[in-house]
Amino acid sequence: MFFLKSSEQNHSTHLQVIKDLNFNNIKVVESLDQINGVYLLEYNNMLSIADVDNPKVLPIAVNFLKPNFKKRLTGSQVRSELLNKALGKKHNYKTLLDATAGMGVDCMIFAALGLKVQAYEKSEAIYLLLRDGLDRARNDDRLSEIINRVNLNFGNSLNHKGEVDVLYLDFMFNKADKKAKSKKDMEAFKKITNIPSDEELLEEFKSYIGFKFKRLVFKRPLKAEVLKVGHFSHSVEGKAIRYDIYLPS
Ligand SMILES: C[S@@+](CC[C@H](N)C(=O)[O-])C[C@H]1O[C@@H](n2cnc3c(N)ncnc32)[C@H](O)[C@@H]1O
Repeated sequence: MFFLKSSEQNHSTHLQVIKDLNFNNIKVVESLDQINGVYLLEYNNMLSIADVDNPKVLPIAVNFLKPNFKKRLTGSQVRSELLNKALGKKHNYKTLLDATAGMGVDCMIFAALGLKVQAYEKSEAIYLLLRDGLDRARNDDRLSEIINRVNLNFGNSLNHKGEVDVLYLDFMFNKADKKAKSKKDMEAFKKITNIPSDEELLEEFKSYIGFKFKRLVFKRPLKAEVLKVGHFSHSVEGKAIRYDIYLPS
């Protein structure tokens, strides 16, 4: 992984984080010629990810400040999210472990629903993108209140200790997405995170089912098989995906 430094920008915050966290796999370079594959850069004042092999695809950042996204997090809209349905009616859940934070969309939805979220991301690049997205959104009046409920950690969530009310899992899977643009967008991500095989997924799931939770919400492709591990309760179905709900055994 590379970080493209530009002479016109002051990257001190990002470079400091990379240094403080010992992200030694991220090479700081000053020219595109030194890069192969995927790289981080500052684009429109946002830490972003781009791919030298797909120069036509615009760099991608985590931007919670987009008006549509902010609107999605407001009262009645956020309550109509499928994830809210996945939490169940009239629940009293207060804490959630987002074991697969990614670009933080789901994490923000849970926090907007009032849950205190412990989020983990194990990819250095994705962690940096999400951290930058959260930091930029902290200055926004409405978002800051939501972000105060989010604690982002770098690392493997399998190492998390302690009980949570809700455990949320969303591993990468191949989406039946017909839009060529979003497929190209995803290519950069596929290069840095792997899509687990069925066997790997089952093994990981077996570990998470051993965590202490009151409810486990597992995002799955609509047509995928239900993993018969632990106490499967029911599914909450959307148009393209579903949430499988597991309860303590
Ligand atoms: C499909 S994405 C999650 C998308 C996220 N729900 C969102 O709304 O943006 C899966 C992410 O989980 C991360 N991940 C997978 N296994 C993990 C683990 N054991 N610990 C921490 N992060 C993990 C991957 O690096 C990837 O960024």
